[in-house]
Amino acid sequence: MIRLGVNIDHIATLRQARYRDPHPGVTPEPDPVTLARICLEAGAHSLTVHLREDRRHIQDEDVLRLGREFREKLNLEMAASPAMVDFALRLKPAEVCLVPENRAEVTTEGGLDAAGHLDALRPVVRKLKQAGILVSLFLDPELRQIEAATALEAPVVELHTGRFADADPAQRPSALTKLREAAQKADQFKIQVNAGHGLRLSNLPDLLHLPHLHTLNIGHSLVSHALTVGLARSVRDFLQAIAKT
Ligand code: PXP
Repeated sequence: MIRLGVNIDHIATLRQARYRDPHPGVTPEPDPVTLARICLEAGAHSLTVHLREDRRHIQDEDVLRLGREFREKLNLEMAASPAMVDFALRLKPAEVCLVPENRAEVTTEGGLDAAGHLDALRPVVRKLKQAGILVSLFLDPELRQIEAATALEAPVVELHTGRFADADPAQRPSALTKLREAAQKADQFKIQVNAGHGLRLSNLPDLLHLPHLHTLNIGHSLVSHALTVGLARSVRDFLQAIAKT
């Protein structure tokens, strides 16, 4: 069975839209840890957070709380920077996914150029592995990147599905072919294949044709869907509260 990892960053995005600064006497909402618990109780297999350098959504304190409660299910996405490596070595989440990071981007735009940064990444992967952390590399579906993952002895790759997700119907088959070839190559090298970015209920059926998928990490669309299916209930709850006055 393919596993579902839920990226809860955008729960924090909503909280930060209101509670970036301290509001004494108010408990900030929504709370990513409370909603992480709901995701796991609903059957999600793991949780992902991306602690970005600019701290635009998930905050250090969120990740520390998630680590205390769900360390075994926690996948920390992060840049391969010395500060983040120190953070991960202190937190020791089950998994770390190394991603590229660019301050100006709205979301992670491309995969990590592992092939172009072998020397810089080698000690990072080694240190994290020595700490017992499962190391994943977020890669574009290119064979040279999968080969780089082998050279780095990374046990997991997460294939970037963004190009597939954004492709118009005419381009989608070639995007899927690239993903399939990358998944096959990774599996030949005995590397676990995860995938994520831009996955939605509408494009999942096509993606599920890929071989060797272990975990799909899904964030924005899953959280958006939660609003779509949950908003009516929220309105009813508030109407009921108002009616009591
Ligand atoms: N996987 C990685 C490595 C990501 O950077 C992201 C986006 O933060 C996701 C998965 C989830 O992407 P989306 O929010 O589009 O589902």
